[in-house]
Amino acid sequence: MTKTDVIRQLFKNIKRVLRIAWQTSPLVFTWLIFLTILCSLFPVALSYVFKLLLDAIVKTQNLAGTITIGLLSLFAFRYIIDFAYNIADALNFDYFDKTFRQKFENRLTLEFTKKISELDIPHLENSETQNLIQKARQAYPWRLTNFYNFLINDILNLGVFISAFVVLIPYGYWIPLALAVSTIPRLYYRNKYVRSEWTRFNQSIGESKDLMYVRNLLDDPSGIKEIRVSQAGPKLLNRIKDLQDFLLTTIREPLKKYLPFFLSTIFFEAIILVILAYFKLPDIVQGAITIGTFTFYIQNLDRISNSSQGVVGQATRLFEQNLYVSYFFEVLELPKIIKEKKPGVLFDEIKPPKIEFKNVSFSYAGGLEILKNISFKIEPGEHLAIVGPNGAGKTTIIRLLLRFYDPAEGQILINDVDLKEMKLNNWYKFVSILFQDFVKFSLTIKDNILLGDIRAIDENRMKDAAVKSGAIDFIDKFPKKYDTRLGKRFDDSVELSQGQWQKLALARMFYEAAPLLILDEPTSAIDAEAEAEIFDNINKVYKDKNLILISHRFSTVRGADKIIVLQNGRITEEGDHASLMEKDQVYARMFRKQAEGYIE
Ligand SMILES: Nc1ncnc2c1ncn2[C@@H]1O[C@H](COP(=O)(O)OP(=O)(O)OP(=O)(O)O)[C@@H](O)[C@H]1O
Ligand SMILES: [Mg+2]
Repeated sequence: MTKTDVIRQLFKNIKRVLRIAWQTSPLVFTWLIFLTILCSLFPVALSYVFKLLLDAIVKTQNLAGTITIGLLSLFAFRYIIDFAYNIADALNFDYFDKTFRQKFENRLTLEFTKKISELDIPHLENSETQNLIQKARQAYPWRLTNFYNFLINDILNLGVFISAFVVLIPYGYWIPLALAVSTIPRLYYRNKYVRSEWTRFNQSIGESKDLMYVRNLLDDPSGIKEIRVSQAGPKLLNRIKDLQDFLLTTIREPLKKYLPFFLSTIFFEAIILVILAYFKLPDIVQGAITIGTFTFYIQNLDRISNSSQGVVGQATRLFEQNLYVSYFFEVLELPKIIKEKKPGVLFDEIKPPKIEFKNVSFSYAGGLEILKNISFKIEPGEHLAIVGPNGAGKTTIIRLLLRFYDPAEGQILINDVDLKEMKLNNWYKFVSILFQDFVKFSLTIKDNILLGDIRAIDENRMKDAAVKSGAIDFIDKFPKKYDTRLGKRFDDSVELSQGQWQKLALARMFYEAAPLLILDEPTSAIDAEAEAEIFDNINKVYKDKNLILISHRFSTVRGADKIIVLQNGRITEEGDHASLMEKDQVYARMFRKQAEGYIE
């Protein structure tokens, strides 16, 4: 990135942050800016009144030494300004700023979380996007809040700087100018330092991710169990330490390199300040200027020096945060990959659909072709089973049917409408899905079931669903029944076995009872007897509805109206159980092999 790019990016980010700040609360934000500018003008006003007061005192000393009304008014005025300054400052920083920052962070969190939760699946499964999200997570919210703070502080310092600069012009315009110019070396080196630090941050993002991953591995109870038995703990701890050391050295390197330059520039600025202050010393000694004027001069030199240091310091910090803050906005601006047609086709009647895959081919970003020219049809009310070895592409078919990805070639038709034309929220109303890696919600049993259909809460239906899925057997044993909290997060929560979780997830499916049920390995952990019962119930409930079942267990597959054998992304056989057995090819071979395992 060139320098102009970075500066353009800085202004873009300032605009973006100010926009969020404005949206957070227009009224409070206006107050903040107004009070900040006001506070920046107070110091010069205060020292000007002090100059008038000093001059008036000296004058009074030379006269009779009595306190005049004029003197008293100036004295009072100095304290009134001081008082107003303190009030404005307290209002600004103790009240408005604190409440505002909390609101600002809340808004950032909401915007970020909303964006991530709505990201297209291809983004979530893309390593570059994952890197970006990781970088944005490291930067937010604190770097954004800092960015905002530095911006406000910069406005404050700039106000002080400009007002001090202006009042010093009558002493010779080059005086404030020389002082301001003396800060350029510092700006230069700070800039170099920040860029070097940022480059290193970027180069080491892989290690940062690695560190976070290994740390999570050792934090996560299910990870710990395996690690303890395999005794990999000390090795992983060492890996954490190595990564920490590496990151620390990487970050410290530029600091070490630039520290001597930082110290030299501070020294240089101090010398210029002393020379400029000394410059008016003869005038005061000879009486060419008043004590008040000299004090005013010295105070404002200091002010320029401090505020220009402040401006440069805050600006470089702003610049530093800017580089990271961009990642946050890049995430917010990630484009839609799955573009929905607006308004999109809507079906009013949610009933068992006709589904057709027409010459569908697909590959994940940049990878091998996973599905090759797949075509099949499911009529309303039909049950389809998909079988095939691991990695054949079975789950991928489901992901295409849910439009997590779009096919590279071919079409998926729902009731003869291309899935790309459909409004997805409407399509999802047709579908209940139990994923292979379904979510175990650490909520109550009741919530776990009702989540299937949050629009309708019907306790009788809930209990019926628990009976059909077989979950009732363990639910009834808990003292709190449906109000039992699940998972390991809470004091009173209960952990279920893998098969019990599956039964509960199936209860959710029975509760939702959508016209199309998709089950991806739904009973892999369920005992044979319970499995048979569950499938009896599914067949009853889904007699006139659609079912897509992916399973390695042929006992559950054989009842389907249609069975597809998927191998290496191609459909190699299709038909019902009887016809496939008659064909006596792959399906029949796999079926017999499994059956042989049970029959002596
Ligand atoms: N998100 C992804 N990104 C890239 N490749 C993927 C992704 N998910 C799956 N794959 C690849 O696609 C192929 C098919 O995977 P898929 O999950 O569809 O198989 P499957 O038939 O469901 O297997 P299993 O029986 O093990 O569940 C695999 O080779 C896998 O490596
Ligand atoms: Mg799968």
